[in-house]
Amino acid sequence: MQENVLISKLTTMRLGGPARYVQEVTEPKQVAEAYDFARKNSLPVYVLGYGSNVIGRDEGFDGLVLVNKLKGVETVSETGDEVVIKAASGEMLDDLCGFTAERGYTGIEAMSAIPGTVGAAPVQNVGAYGQEIANVLVGVSAYDTSQGRTLWIDAADCQLGYRRSIFNTTEFGRYFITAVTIKLRKGQLRPPFYISLQAFVEQNGLTDFSPMAIRQAVTAVRAGKLPDPKQIASSGSFFKNVVVDDATAAKMQREGVRTYEEGGRNTVPSGWLIEQTGLKGKEFHGMRVSDKAALILINESAHSYADLAAARQEISDAVYKKFGFRLEQEPVELA
Ligand code: EPU
Repeated sequence: MQENVLISKLTTMRLGGPARYVQEVTEPKQVAEAYDFARKNSLPVYVLGYGSNVIGRDEGFDGLVLVNKLKGVETVSETGDEVVIKAASGEMLDDLCGFTAERGYTGIEAMSAIPGTVGAAPVQNVGAYGQEIANVLVGVSAYDTSQGRTLWIDAADCQLGYRRSIFNTTEFGRYFITAVTIKLRKGQLRPPFYISLQAFVEQNGLTDFSPMAIRQAVTAVRAGKLPDPKQIASSGSFFKNVVVDDATAAKMQREGVRTYEEGGRNTVPSGWLIEQTGLKGKEFHGMRVSDKAALILINESAHSYADLAAARQEISDAVYKKFGFRLEQEPVELA
């Protein structure tokens, strides 16, 4: 266990003051031990994966941060056209996408190159290019802090929605997800694909839609737009897309505003709203609206969470003034 570690070093946005204690979890038994330590010392616990969707605050965290490094992937069962796979939560999601694509399994190949852990996937129902964890999740194994034991939670009980689940809402802080079980099909996606993926497929004349080919296409699409967290400080999409009801979507389409259908929800792309407001590429308090994708904020020279908050306010106000939508922050905050 380390003491006084800067959250800026544990998160890809590279902001945030010191966490009092930080523990890397590499063995399942360390989970219960860590929570016991926290309980004895009356410390709050925060679970981090890769830290790519979590923002640290200037005051830091007066508690214990667990950095999930649990590893291991196994095939649980297999039939003629389906396969069930269990992955430890500290695996990188992209490694799991590679593992499954190599074997010709479809279901998560479009989530390739997302910089995050497997355990984070059900927490915020990670998704990209038309696929989301909700569509493949069988359930999770999780240490339940209120019962002091590891148990199984069925996918239905995780209540996955747009970037949400029980783990980041009603039951926040209660569970440490140790493994994620998914069911994939042997086969491949069929066109038409999610719009930006479809455009790439057409531009490059791709005809192979095998999981590995889609994985490679998605990786190329993302590389052109999304900053590599190893090189550039960012949390990926900084705002959520705006979810609207059917009537609002229909009205907006008549007015020529773009809406999309994502997992049964109508959304207005916030990246489009920000771009239309003329903010693409602009810098606010050391935070730059990416010139490649306006939904992404890059920390170029912000010194503090306060800088980020000021930038967020100005961008959100500008969009509200033009369109009447309030943008909501997509990454969570370590608190
Ligand atoms: N758009 C613009 N200008 C921009 C960016 C986007 O006009 O600068 C419009 C485009 O018309 C585009 C549409 O917005 O067709 C959607 O853009 P894109 O396909 O790039 O996806 P997104 O809505 O910006 C979401 C997720 C991403 C995920 C992609 C691909 C959220 C908040 N973001 O972004 O997730 O990778 O779709 O599925 O849901 C993340 O959560 O950190 C993240 C990167």
